[in-house]
Amino acid sequence: MGKIVVLDHPLIKHKLTFIRDKNTGTKEFKELVKEVSTLMAYEVTRDLPLEEIEIETPLAKTKSQVISGKKLGLVPILRAGLGMVEGMLDLLPAAKVGHVGLYRDPKTLKPVEYYCKLPKDVEERELIVLDPMLATGGSADAAINFLKKEGANSIKLVCLLGAPEGIEVIQQKHPDVDIYLANIDEGLNEHAYIVPGIGDAGDRLFGTK
Ligand code: PRP
Ligand code: URA
Repeated sequence: MGKIVVLDHPLIKHKLTFIRDKNTGTKEFKELVKEVSTLMAYEVTRDLPLEEIEIETPLAKTKSQVISGKKLGLVPILRAGLGMVEGMLDLLPAAKVGHVGLYRDPKTLKPVEYYCKLPKDVEERELIVLDPMLATGGSADAAINFLKKEGANSIKLVCLLGAPEGIEVIQQKHPDVDIYLANIDEGLNEHAYIVPGIGDAGDRLFGTK
């Protein structure tokens, strides 16, 4: 079974409060999502392997550690996942970025795929799927299925908020995928929105409604 990691750092909790607040406007919302994403990148990369290399400081030769192993790939689920990319890239500037375009049909609640473009060497990368919302889990499930079909071997899922229902879906269908969240919320309302949630993440990020 994949790990569920809830990031309970006070800075994340503080910023999440203002992301949730309906009076927070688009500009501030976008900045806060970016900042929380950077903080999450710190934890998501905690298990990256290290290797020692030899360097010279101004005073002496020494051995020191650098990240080794697989290269990273960020895969935002469009649209709302885009809000998390820049914040992650601030800490992981060498990561390549792929895009998976999905929207949730408001009637059926099923994900509809409309765009996909991934780095060529996807099977060699540790992929980090980004989406602020894990609601029914349908979109994340579809994105992960697509990545696996394209050859991905290593996938983590990073979301701001998860509903227990969506977390369960990913754990059942993708036991190899660890899930990182800023919070697990109470559940879903009758329109499958996360409660208390943050509302429609894409609309709040891009000012559409
Ligand atoms: C939102 C969100 C997730 C999905 C979550 O996207 O960003 O991708 O819904 O819901 P699920 O877990 O029930 O699938 P949406 O479909 O609203 O598209 P958008 O990002 O383009 O606004
Ligand atoms: N998509 C969103 O943007 N918000 C939710 O609460 C659920 C799905």
